[in-house]
Amino acid sequence: GPAGLGVEINIDYVSVCVVDLAGTGRVRQTEHLDNRGAPPGEVLARAAGIAARTLDSAREQDLFPVGAALALPGLVSGGSVRQAPNLGWNQVPAEEVFAGALAALRPGAAVLPVRSENEANLAALAELWFGGLEAVRSFLYLTGEIGVGGALVLDGELLRGAHGFAGEIGHVVVDPDGPECRCGSRGCLEQYAGQTALLRAAGIDAAGGGASGVMELERRAHAGDARAVGAVAEAGRMLGRVLSGAVNLFDPDAVVLGGIYRPLMPWLSPPADRELTGRVVSGLWSGGSGRLRASSVAGDAARGAAALVVQDVLADPAAY
Ligand code: BGC
Ligand code: NA
Ligand code: ZN
Repeated sequence: GPAGLGVEINIDYVSVCVVDLAGTGRVRQTEHLDNRGAPPGEVLARAAGIAARTLDSAREQDLFPVGAALALPGLVSGGSVRQAPNLGWNQVPAEEVFAGALAALRPGAAVLPVRSENEANLAALAELWFGGLEAVRSFLYLTGEIGVGGALVLDGELLRGAHGFAGEIGHVVVDPDGPECRCGSRGCLEQYAGQTALLRAAGIDAAGGGASGVMELERRAHAGDARAVGAVAEAGRMLGRVLSGAVNLFDPDAVVLGGIYRPLMPWLSPPADRELTGRVVSGLWSGGSGRLRASSVAGDAARGAAALVVQDVLADPAAY
């Protein structure tokens, strides 16, 4: 039957997912690659290659995606990436380039309409739709990647802002004299709580790739390695401090942490919760209330992207 294709392009991986009309994730492919510094056309062509293979596997299961959505680690508007700091992209017409690359790989096949959105926004939508949040309608979503992504969901709606860029919490300044950030500023939150910063602080050489670095960090924290535990706790304090400002601004029911934060919650969450308890205005936050929580496995950008396509199809079947 008809389905949606979601393609997350991140700094050190590409993840592709097909979701059926019931919203169930049916096919998944993830490849770890280094996309940083590669020409955008090359990265998008690589992603199109993975997508084309995924479409073949989907067909074997009688799933026929009728549209695709790209989940991108940057400021996305009108089909283009204004800036993706850690990819080093500026003004990249991602939808057009990806659609062209995919069409070239599938001569004779119907051309898939492509849309695009910030990857943290899509992970938050996946969490909203599939994460079992129950009564939670307003939440802040943070994803730990090479950068730190964010999304604001208030009263069940994703807040987009004037350009669609709302939620860029990774570039909230923690220390104006801090290290340079890839966005052009200094001392941004992601320079303290992003994957690269965390692994560095823990003394882990990520040469084997970010994913294995994070597993090693988790392993060391479990084993009680003081440097690993201390690095994660410090990131938790930084996150909690910045989050307390965001909670004061938006009054969410919950704060949901995804990406690399999910496996690190046992060490990340207590110091973050303490900061929130101490800094959120008058009694609005009390520690251990469960309002700070790990994202579910469903809180995933590729799945959110695929589900967005499905939502489009259901809203206007005649357009597909
Ligand atoms: C980017 C965000 C992205 C986040 C996580 C940040 O550097 O500005 O758009 O969501 O990294 O990948
Ligand atoms: Na966002
Ligand atoms: Zn920045």
